[in-house]
Amino acid sequence: MKKILIVNGPNLNLLGKREPTIYGSQTFEEYFQTLQSLFPDVELHYFQSNHEGALIDKIHEIGFTFDGIVLNAGAYTHTSVAIADALSAVTTPAVEVHISNVHAREAFRHHSYLSSRVKGVIVGLGLKGYELAVRYFLS
Ligand code: DQA
Repeated sequence: MKKILIVNGPNLNLLGKREPTIYGSQTFEEYFQTLQSLFPDVELHYFQSNHEGALIDKIHEIGFTFDGIVLNAGAYTHTSVAIADALSAVTTPAVEVHISNVHAREAFRHHSYLSSRVKGVIVGLGLKGYELAVRYFLS
């Protein structure tokens, strides 16, 4: 059974309540159940933290044994050389996901320190982006 970890960074614990016009009104916990039912043959894990070091620790912990990382690092995407280095340090491939279309938003969201360290990037397709990223790892 493939093992895939979904990692959400800062403020994504507030999905459902946080700026619903941008991020939608569903909580991630709800959506995660949908994902699990879509992929009954995948061992899907979920981790969320508002702390940069905790995200890095998790990437290290699973980054040599899991089959894929679906990463939405939130605002750390635009600031974190340390998360970029963690992605380079491990052998598990990652896909970067953003719920909103970061390229249609403020200029500071247009640059990602992570994009060069991942297989690909899915932006602007809402929560569906996580499903598409999981499908990539199964293909
Ligand atoms: C986000 C986009 C980031 O710019 C923002 O800081 C987030 C969420 C997204 O999923 O659209 O927290 O990663």
